[in-house]
Amino acid sequence: MAFDFRNIGEVDTGRLLLRKITKADVSHIYSFTSNPVGKEFLSWEPHESIGRTAAFVDFLLTRYESGDPVQWGIELKETQTIIGITGFVDYTAEHNRGEIAYLMSPDYEGKGYMTEANGAVLRYGFEIMRLNRIQAKAELLNIASQKVMEKIGMAEEGVMRQYIYQKGAYRDYKLYSILSSEYYNGREPK
Ligand SMILES: CC(C)(COP(=O)(O)OP(=O)(O)OC[C@H]1O[C@@H](n2cnc3c(N)ncnc32)[C@H](O)[C@@H]1OP(=O)(O)O)[C@@H](O)C(=O)NCCC(=O)NCCS
Repeated sequence: MAFDFRNIGEVDTGRLLLRKITKADVSHIYSFTSNPVGKEFLSWEPHESIGRTAAFVDFLLTRYESGDPVQWGIELKETQTIIGITGFVDYTAEHNRGEIAYLMSPDYEGKGYMTEANGAVLRYGFEIMRLNRIQAKAELLNIASQKVMEKIGMAEEGVMRQYIYQKGAYRDYKLYSILSSEYYNGREPK
């Protein structure tokens, strides 16, 4: 049976809580969507106004209601503020395959937060959604993102040459994936 994203609950990862974003989070999200650091690797420009971030949050709220693939907010439990987003941006029930994408506030980078969050996203994907394959893509120059994928056990599959035309240039992207059999690695599936 296809997974319904209306049912994504909360995931406690220790330091972080993956939870649905609300309108009350807009100003915290704007503090990092407006920061140009790291945005060279993304399809969108840094948000020039809080209205742009509010529109993005409205998009997520629509997805929480429609049941389509959607990301969680990453809440830092200590301060109860949203410091990033991660989760599923694509899902094909027929093939039990999902794709994740993520963004961390530059103010919180390098503390292992995305590794912790994405480890939990894999756990959710394999144990709750019963996926067979989870994939992610990163621009060839985006070493931090590739490091995160490697640290959570994803394997590099190759380079997709000039895969995306973004910000005036064709960009090479690396494709990473992890299979259910690799995730469970001989353990009994839950
Ligand atoms: C990629 C990103 C999500 C990483 O988030 P994070 O919370 O800093 O990730 P972590 O702290 O869990 O791990 C990052 C790793 O990359 C390493 N790293 C960061 N920049 C690096 C660089 N320029 N060269 C080599 N390693 C780098 C860190 O040292 C760390 O590895 P370590 O634990 O072995 O030291 C964050 O930088 C980000 O949001 N970037 C902009 C958006 C983006 O690229 N999203 C992904 C699109 S595919």
